[in-house]
Amino acid sequence: MKDNKEIISFLKVKGFVFPGSEIYGGLANSWDYGPLGALLKDNIKNLWKSFFIDQQPNTFHFDSSIMLNKKVWEVSGHLAKFVDPMIDCKECKIRYRADFFIEEHFEKNPDSMSFEEMSELIHSMDCPSCKKNNWTDVRIFNLMFKFDNSKLGEGDEIYLRPETAQGIFINFLNIINSINPKLPFGIGQVGKAFRNEVTPGNFIFRTKEFEQLELEYFTTKNGEEVAFDHYIGLIDIFLEKVGLSKNNFRKQDIAKESLAHYSSRTIDYEYNFPFGWGELLGLANRRQFDLSIHSGSKLGMRDSQTNEFIVPSVIETSFGVERLFYAIISEAYTKEDVDGEERIVLKLPFKIAPYKAAVTPLTNKLDNEAQTLFNELLEQEIGPITYVTSGSIGKRYRKQDAIGTPFVITYDFDALEDNSVTIRHRDTMKQARVLIKDIKTYILNNAK
Ligand code: GAP
Repeated sequence: MKDNKEIISFLKVKGFVFPGSEIYGGLANSWDYGPLGALLKDNIKNLWKSFFIDQQPNTFHFDSSIMLNKKVWEVSGHLAKFVDPMIDCKECKIRYRADFFIEEHFEKNPDSMSFEEMSELIHSMDCPSCKKNNWTDVRIFNLMFKFDNSKLGEGDEIYLRPETAQGIFINFLNIINSINPKLPFGIGQVGKAFRNEVTPGNFIFRTKEFEQLELEYFTTKNGEEVAFDHYIGLIDIFLEKVGLSKNNFRKQDIAKESLAHYSSRTIDYEYNFPFGWGELLGLANRRQFDLSIHSGSKLGMRDSQTNEFIVPSVIETSFGVERLFYAIISEAYTKEDVDGEERIVLKLPFKIAPYKAAVTPLTNKLDNEAQTLFNELLEQEIGPITYVTSGSIGKRYRKQDAIGTPFVITYDFDALEDNSVTIRHRDTMKQARVLIKDIKTYILNNAK
């Protein structure tokens, strides 16, 4: 298993992820994405959009608001059911998720337990933190952030969305009436979601503010199973594309009693994070649940095959961007021994690497020529590239390896004569001589 602390510190030093509000003493469990992290995060989102939306037939983009009418959450069931059980130690004031606590300390499944049973079990044990036994009872805690939307600060409460999906469901008729899609079709969106988690933590794994990549696939009732299996196939391909190896993720069919209120079947994909196994994404059969409950009457459309008016079923794929980011980094972070020296390489796939290439002059005397080449390459739209000068050439290579740059282009004295440069590959460290006019083609042909 890779060292979690080492990875978190590496991500800070290299400009990927910084602790939130650090100069004011921090804000627990909040994180900011630095220049490299922001690029990586965008690349992950773009790859998801391109694979799950642009490359799939009959699949469209969406971008809904974070703030929705509070009726959405009353009707969707989130106000009543989007809750976690919690328990507090009255002595040291530590708050625990009661279900997690029972799983961890009693190795029992809490899903079928009443709150009384949970309380009784937890009360039989001392608080692991202060070793005293003075608990509250187990009670529920709604995960939605509530805030006041009125000018005078009175009444008019609304909630920050805890999932992006509802923004798609409540727009169902607008989508049908504007672009007239035929079943089956998909609507995907990327956006922020907020949850007042009882126990946030594990770095960027569980935070109160995060981003989701959600795809709602509308199909007929008879088409539910086929669509579900189809998305299992697509998810497997996507996870491979972002560089996650098969032995680091597993699929868990969620037991009936643990399903979310809207789902009849859910598969959680778990990843072997540096802190242990954790949910990376969920694939759920939301059936007709959402479209049946909104708007008082059913949201539906004509099935073009039968001409019947139907309420479509929904198969949902839901990824968390930060969890994907964390999994991708953990998988890519590699240490190698090169001639007795340690080399850190971030073996990121080309498509998600923050910089696609770095340009560097062999010596500072060639700075002008190398800068000119860099400016020319910027215009060729290879993707973000960087210009580096400080340190020996060996150190420059190592720095680029560590931030995952797949190619380093070195401008040397021979370039003045032969109009060629040396291109070094990050993973193999092999070098090739390439004509300046062919750099873009060479990079794109060798991108992995
Ligand atoms: N619309 C369905 C839905 O929201 P979910 O299993 O609650 O389902 C989907 O969330 C995904 O969102 C999770 O698999 C995870 O990747 C991400 N996610 C959920 N809560 C999160 C949190 N507090 N911090 C980071 N990511 C989270």
